[in-house]
Amino acid sequence: MRKPIIAGNWKMHKTVAEGVAFINAVKNEVEGTDVEALICAPYTLLPSLVEAAKGTSVKIGAQNMHFEDKGAFTGEVSADMLLDIGVTHVIIGHSERRQYFGETNETVNKKAHKALQKGLTPIVCCGETLEQREAGETKSHCKVQIEEAFTGIAAADAPKVVIAYEPIWAIGTGKTASSQDANDVIAFIREVLVGLYGDAVSEEVRIQYGGSVKPANVEEIMNESDIDGALVGGASLEPSDFLQLVNF
Ligand code: G3P
Repeated sequence: MRKPIIAGNWKMHKTVAEGVAFINAVKNEVEGTDVEALICAPYTLLPSLVEAAKGTSVKIGAQNMHFEDKGAFTGEVSADMLLDIGVTHVIIGHSERRQYFGETNETVNKKAHKALQKGLTPIVCCGETLEQREAGETKSHCKVQIEEAFTGIAAADAPKVVIAYEPIWAIGTGKTASSQDANDVIAFIREVLVGLYGDAVSEEVRIQYGGSVKPANVEEIMNESDIDGALVGGASLEPSDFLQLVNF
């Protein structure tokens, strides 16, 4: 059984005080659910959020990291630095990082390797643009993204990776892929993993859907056969919404 993972991606939102207030508002309510609850926040908030979530099951993740251990990389943060403050997860290759900050399948692969080597859980993102969807290229595009992200990753490590399928046209637009469409692509991604690692490993990998997930549609999405969680932007910013997501 794959444990569902509901993750908030706060993107570039919240001060430390706002973030800590959020964690304090949700942390006790999350206890006892069968869901892995995770908040991925800006770097500046991470130590305070880890502290606020201590002793609870809420996990704290970063939204990016560098693949090198240390060195002259102004503005970057390493896996060791995240581990040093108690971060457990890291989003890798979000479409906004690919679009605005030059992230490529190659850097995604390097970051996934580094995260696994260090013991962080990578959440590897993939997803197509509207043009690609309309051209019928959704699956071929995701296949390349996944195959290149997993290049050189051993079968023993593959189940430690979480995949997030986020169609770019559904991010922050209010347009959600229908739950069947999302499940169809996610089932296809699982097939890609079968090709890489075989059935048993593929069955273990958790694959989230992301793109305008909110309390009103989370249950339908989570009821699909191959969808194991959600990566949520806008609707993860309010404690009451996040709790509804976790309690889908
Ligand atoms: O990573 C989450 C994301 O890109 C989806 O954002 O605001 O559509 O839930 P949103």
